Amino acid sequence: MPEKTTISIIKCDVGSLVGHHTVPEPLLNVGEKNLQEAQKSGIINSHYVFHAGDDLELLMVHQKGEGNPEIHKLAWDTFQEAAKKALDLKLYGAGQDILKTAFSGNVRGMGPGVAEMEIEERGSDPIVVFAADKTEPGAFNYPMFRIFADPFNTAGLVIDPAISGGFKFEVLDVLENKRAVLKCPEEMYELIALIGTPSRYLISHVRRAKDDLVCAATSTTRLSLIAGKYVGKDDPVSIVRCQHGLPALGEVLAPFMHSYFVEGWMRGSHWGPLMPVGLKDARCTLFDGPPRIVALGFQAAHGKIACDDEGKPMISDLFSDPSFDLARREAVENAVSLRRMGEFEPARLGAGEMEYTTLPKVLEKLKGRFTKA
Ligand code: F6R
Ligand code: MG
Ligand code: MG
Repeated sequence: MPEKTTISIIKCDVGSLVGHHTVPEPLLNVGEKNLQEAQKSGIINSHYVFHAGDDLELLMVHQKGEGNPEIHKLAWDTFQEAAKKALDLKLYGAGQDILKTAFSGNVRGMGPGVAEMEIEERGSDPIVVFAADKTEPGAFNYPMFRIFADPFNTAGLVIDPAISGGFKFEVLDVLENKRAVLKCPEEMYELIALIGTPSRYLISHVRRAKDDLVCAATSTTRLSLIAGKYVGKDDPVSIVRCQHGLPALGEVLAPFMHSYFVEGWMRGSHWGPLMPVGLKDARCTLFDGPPRIVALGFQAAHGKIACDDEGKPMISDLFSDPSFDLARREAVENAVSLRRMGEFEPARLGAGEMEYTTLPKVLEKLKGRFTKA
């Protein structure tokens, strides 16, 4: 049996330039240096280092399976080293997401976000990795539903016999730490009833119903629940497989034709429009946003990312395409409309979902001032 291929995307906010907006070159260089060494010594087969806003993103392809301690340690050590560099440079929020100091074999639950997928490579395996900043894992609920369950998005659900039979969605209840699997189209309404509350119910995996082929994996850590207090939004990452009996690349990208609203943005406490951008625009500026998402496409081939003649991984920066200009324009227009409302809901999140709040202090200050109405 051929060896399986694992795609791991592990990310962390190790500190950023000028507030929480971008990861500067020296930190990316730490990632590149460490992953190059790891590749030379055979720990990983391929890598790509990039950033989404203030998050350093390590994309690694290897044959060690999901949750492998060696791979997780590599990421953890790289984040520690980059955080130290950020500290030396007095960059902002150095080490923000590194919550625990001793590594325990797996970065899950320690601060960094992780999505991993072990696959048996098909004849050709096109993959998309998404990374978003200034939002949370529930931001993927809407596009995952549209990609794998909505016939108005994915033509293949209607006209490709190879896709027939639908998809199974694994939904995680992050409050109660429980999971359930719902099958579409049969349980579509129940699925929407849950994932329409993206702060609590997250789609963690999608599998093809007829053979359980894994099609999507999303990071599901919630930093706020790990730390027990606000330590930053847990900006999410996700891996999606496409084509040949799965949604086509264009169907995977179609939900981003329009901007949609996600939780996060300024101080993790606002609804904001998600803006699909190319790598060069993966910097959060306006009101610390708007929340942004990048999409990188590649081929998984022989346990690696397929490379060009010089041995460089061939990565396509999918949202750099002008087809997404409309969504970007909508995102700016919606951002401007929401900001007119200042700190009035629904621009601001409801009290339970805000990551920063002075409400208890305000209530304390006004204690005794409330009389029976
Ligand atoms: C949200 C985010 C930023 C910060 C904001 C305040 O995820 O990273 O919007 O919350 O810039 O940052 P501090 O509290 O560090 O001044
Ligand atoms: Mg930050
Ligand atoms: Mg971030």
